[in-house]
Amino acid sequence: MVLSATAASLLKGLTLEEKISLLAGASFTGTTGIPEKGVPAIKAVDGPNGVRSAATDEAIRSTCFPAGSSLASIFDPAIAYRAGELLAAECRGKNAQCLLGPTVCIHRHPLGGRNFESFSEDPLLTGKVASQYIRGLQDSGVSATIKHFVANEQETQRTTVDETISERALREIYLKPFEIAIREADPWALMTAYNHVNGEHCDSHNWLLQQVLRGEWGWKGLVMSDWGGTNSVASALNAGLDLEMPGPPRIRKLPAVLEALKKGETSEEVIDERAGKMIEFALKLKEMEAKVDPARLGVSTDSPETRSFVRDAAARGMVLLKNEGGILPLTKDNVRGKKIAVIGYSKDALAHGGGSAAVNAYYKVSPWDGLHTALGDSAEFLFAAGAHRERLLPPINKNGNFGKVIGLDGQVGFTRLLFEDGKDEPINVSHGYTHSAYSPLGSQESLWRSLEIVGDFTPLESGSHYMTCSGIGPSRVYVNDELIFNQDKNSTDPMGTLFLAAPETVFQHYFDASKTYRLRICSDIPRKIGLEILEGRSGVRVGFTLQSVRDADLQGAAVKVAESADLAIIFTGHDPQWETEGRDQDSFNLPRNQNELIAAVAAANKNTIVVNSTGVAVSMPWLDQVPALIQAWFSGQECGNAIADVLTGAVTPEGCLPVTFPKRIEDAPAHGNFPGEYVDGQLKVNYAEGVFVGYRHFDRLDKSCVNFPFGHGLSYTKFEYGVMQVAEKPEQEGFEVTLDVKNVGEVAGGALVQIYAGRTTVSPEHPIKTLVGFKKVRLQAGETKTASISFSKRDFAYFNEETKQWTIDEGDYAVYLGSSAANILQQVNVKLEATTWKP
Ligand code: BGC
Repeated sequence: MVLSATAASLLKGLTLEEKISLLAGASFTGTTGIPEKGVPAIKAVDGPNGVRSAATDEAIRSTCFPAGSSLASIFDPAIAYRAGELLAAECRGKNAQCLLGPTVCIHRHPLGGRNFESFSEDPLLTGKVASQYIRGLQDSGVSATIKHFVANEQETQRTTVDETISERALREIYLKPFEIAIREADPWALMTAYNHVNGEHCDSHNWLLQQVLRGEWGWKGLVMSDWGGTNSVASALNAGLDLEMPGPPRIRKLPAVLEALKKGETSEEVIDERAGKMIEFALKLKEMEAKVDPARLGVSTDSPETRSFVRDAAARGMVLLKNEGGILPLTKDNVRGKKIAVIGYSKDALAHGGGSAAVNAYYKVSPWDGLHTALGDSAEFLFAAGAHRERLLPPINKNGNFGKVIGLDGQVGFTRLLFEDGKDEPINVSHGYTHSAYSPLGSQESLWRSLEIVGDFTPLESGSHYMTCSGIGPSRVYVNDELIFNQDKNSTDPMGTLFLAAPETVFQHYFDASKTYRLRICSDIPRKIGLEILEGRSGVRVGFTLQSVRDADLQGAAVKVAESADLAIIFTGHDPQWETEGRDQDSFNLPRNQNELIAAVAAANKNTIVVNSTGVAVSMPWLDQVPALIQAWFSGQECGNAIADVLTGAVTPEGCLPVTFPKRIEDAPAHGNFPGEYVDGQLKVNYAEGVFVGYRHFDRLDKSCVNFPFGHGLSYTKFEYGVMQVAEKPEQEGFEVTLDVKNVGEVAGGALVQIYAGRTTVSPEHPIKTLVGFKKVRLQAGETKTASISFSKRDFAYFNEETKQWTIDEGDYAVYLGSSAANILQQVNVKLEATTWKP
């Protein structure tokens, strides 16, 4: 290891104990500093689609940017660069020097709970977008943390699951985005994944960290664990994990590291190497912080410029999947004097998914508000909720959603008490607490303490109410000291409970609005939970609703509204409880009865437009019934305005799918191998589809298996493509494709040029084609531009597992121009000689 002179001399001046202290964080977001010896502490914050600043702090607000799958749909890395710059400005505003993003894991299966955070099923698109995002951040002096290395493609048992993945699939698909980003953008930090790969936890994985990352790729940045994802003392140190996060240490406690040294399991050289890396990282970030003037970033947080960037990026990321009969755009003239039924999630802003990527946004614009601003003076809007969509009942909050709550201090809000084991007197009491839920995510305060949430509750309405409860440890609900619910064991889904997203038992209780009830929610210290990070952390959630609300016929009401309107727009999707870190989706069908709702509304009104906000593909059994469909993703705090921009044509849609939308989940490449099977209590998953992920798989099936292919996206204008020229560029060991693109429609718009390459002779061992380059070309009506796209000969290679070499077989290969993976417009053949090279 070659350290800078300053880092080396600082390292020299540290005692062994001090060096060991640097190898783990000090808090949830902070690394350990030794200021008296010149080693600064660094603040590292989530990421990736906003700056969370702290794990849970309702007072901290940030800009909520479009999530990964939305950003990727733009197919324009320059926009990812700007997102990176603005995120850096947000970090600076929150005194953070390191952002925990981007997430570059692959969309392996549509049920992946965190797909929304990452970009695509395609490694090239992922790598290119990630590279610019990283550059944007780091050119502005803030470190990126590319994550999760590697193959965190599922949430089910994510901390323990063992994944069997072939070296070829790892190299060509799962490691590829990391490799591209490391070569093109050199992220200063990387986060290891929670899971095992081929029997070894990623944080302790010698092959991944030493051979591939540090060795073959020659990468010199800092490796940190995912939060609670350090699994061993010596193996992780030896494999190259520099930093255990979060702090204070759970694994790298001083005695444990000293013991490993004493036993000879690790060495002082290894400690020096890891501590040296940590010092260098901290010094670099502090130096960058001083060097990069915040004014250079051009914006302060929540500025008009950031708001307009987020709105523009959100709109450009939306994908117009279907538009029959030109029903869209809904211009003011088109809708003047008309009645528009607005149904579903229209008053919610589905801005982000759940978990660490959830952002407490400065504000969120709902589609209902966005549409009113855009068309309110032309059309009349009618509202219907349409379907019961919530996964969990909402918590009772102090804002009076279900009635009045008074805490033990006589003020509005619950009182929250924490008790040490077996003690009757609370050691911590806080009043004015917001709601009947407490997640220990990121906080130490509930560690090895039991928890009570207490309040005097006067309900808004009399009647039987539905309630739900789940706690990480055993939990109880009392009403006036009567036990009305008892969960006598740990949660069956503790990770889900951490994110307030575990399954909950529903029970009923009668409340009278003329009475006040003492509500007491108790949750014990969880023990033997089986997950180190959750051991001892109490947390609980109680949901609530009126039976009459829960049982109302929302669909019937929506159909009536749709019947009385000229057209209907249904907003469907997943809220952060349905699509979240900590759990995979239950089903490919939209929850809970949104599919039935669309079918019923479309039967009542043939002018039905669907706007779907999910981070993933979902089933669309109603597709033939609706003339128009927009995939809006989770597009950040401006989602409602951006949706209105696309619906009205203020922005011409230009997004294209970064993932295939299959018709049936049974046709998904990983079907049957997701989320895996339990063997002796451990979840194992076989990545049996190998390199045939996404369109690499669907290319081999009948086209009718997909609703919409990778790369598909419509526009309100039309493009014509000239003849593609493919020129060999020997000096760059690659090719350059050039072609003219003309906007032959009436409005300005963006065309996506997609270049794929593959063998001319189909081989069962190789994908038919893979994406090798792309370019978004934006054109005024009538305008023509020449697009040129370069790619390397290496893009034709596969990884040969026998020779352990990247390999090009001699032969004829095709370069394709496509308007999607399923619609090839032109083909030019090229000849390649046999070539191999070492990884
Ligand atoms: C997630 C990471 C995140 C970290 C800190 C973990 O649960 O997997 O992506 O950066 O928490 O919040």
